[in-house]
Amino acid sequence: MKIGIIGSGGREHSICESLSKSEKVKKIFCFPGNAGTSDVAENIEIDLENFEDIKNFILEKKIELIIVGPEKPLVEGLVDYLEKFKINVFGPNKIASQLEGSKIFTKKLCQKFNIPTAEFGIFQNKDDANKYLESSNYPTVIKADNLASGKGVYICNNQNEAKLAVVEIFGGKFGKAKNILIEEFLQGEEMSFFTIHDGNSFKNFGTAQDHKRVLEGDKGKNTGGMGAYSPSRLINEELEYKIINKIIKPTLKALSEIGADYKGFLYTGLMIINNEPYLIEYNVRMGDPECQTILPKIKTDLLDIFLACCEQKLSKINIEWVNKKSICIVVCSKGYPDSFQKNVEIKNINKISTNKDEFLFHAGTSHKNGKTYAIGGRVLNFVSLSEDFATAKKISMSNLEKLNWSGGFYRRDIGYKVID
Ligand code: AMP
Ligand code: GLY
Repeated sequence: MKIGIIGSGGREHSICESLSKSEKVKKIFCFPGNAGTSDVAENIEIDLENFEDIKNFILEKKIELIIVGPEKPLVEGLVDYLEKFKINVFGPNKIASQLEGSKIFTKKLCQKFNIPTAEFGIFQNKDDANKYLESSNYPTVIKADNLASGKGVYICNNQNEAKLAVVEIFGGKFGKAKNILIEEFLQGEEMSFFTIHDGNSFKNFGTAQDHKRVLEGDKGKNTGGMGAYSPSRLINEELEYKIINKIIKPTLKALSEIGADYKGFLYTGLMIINNEPYLIEYNVRMGDPECQTILPKIKTDLLDIFLACCEQKLSKINIEWVNKKSICIVVCSKGYPDSFQKNVEIKNINKISTNKDEFLFHAGTSHKNGKTYAIGGRVLNFVSLSEDFATAKKISMSNLEKLNWSGGFYRRDIGYKVID
């Protein structure tokens, strides 16, 4: 089969690698991919906003299945568009993608269906928001409604910080803002819970914990994710039952009432307080770097799973996993998440050879004249699997030492909560 993958991050490289193990996969195209995907797929430079060009390429090359990695094309309706041309796509449609595309859509859905989440208010203008903030408890959480690559969330310690956030959001920092969301601050531990859906049924797809802050000790600015480990230390049978019955099933019911059956990965971002789950956010895709920690553990053919989802036969598939711990450490360009230099050579990358249960997934990289260059903020992902987290981390760290790249940095404390 010919497969197409939309995206260019570590998540998409890990999807390419997993799919390339399937005997049924004859060729993979990656739109636009990175230096890592070019080893297993053909990278296609194409504007991801130009749905018509994407569709024409897919039809011309007779690509039989498309997997959409990132949120933006999902929220913009790429799945709906391609399906009009009878193209087989794995990913949620535009209505369902509002779960990530609009935080206010999700909060209203939680309210209507009694889904546990932080108390909240929605405000249409600065004055109303500020009035509410005068009698709020602190810290409080202020969010832009729309997609903001994880940057539209402010945790404010006092009224001054909160009012500044209101000014920035209504000032258009994350695009035109009609509304603003103010939320109660939930004190607990975060966990990411993944499921895969075929529109009819769904299956669990692992748990993980990422480290969003740029500095060690979970300090500093928010990033796309500096590292992750799987499984989460918080998961247990009772908690899983609550997540599914109090959060995921009511959400699917709510979507089906507005005519959207969910197909694709669903990433449920949770705050766990005394073994009770509260919904923080939904993402309508796999997490990055969580995906890179979860996919290497899968034993079942990933293509069979995607195809079963597209044919609404997921219930007939048994998804098997290796029972190991997985850790991913992300190497970033110096300066990230603020400005950083582009086109910096990664000199030692050829010194990294990976054994069984070790993986090097590329993100912001590109090949030129046989050399590898960093072109993005998050550049490489070092993933290892082992019987325990400490060993997995040791292996990733020893590979990182071989890289010894002066243009990059990484957090040395990924997984500190699960490693003594
Ligand atoms: P989001 O983009 O909604 O996931 O928010 C980004 C991060 O902000 C989350 O991963 C949490 O660490 C934090 N956060 C968001 N909402 C809350 C909340 N209500 N209480 C505490 N922390 C929150
Ligand atoms: N790692 C966070 C995300 O993928 O949104």
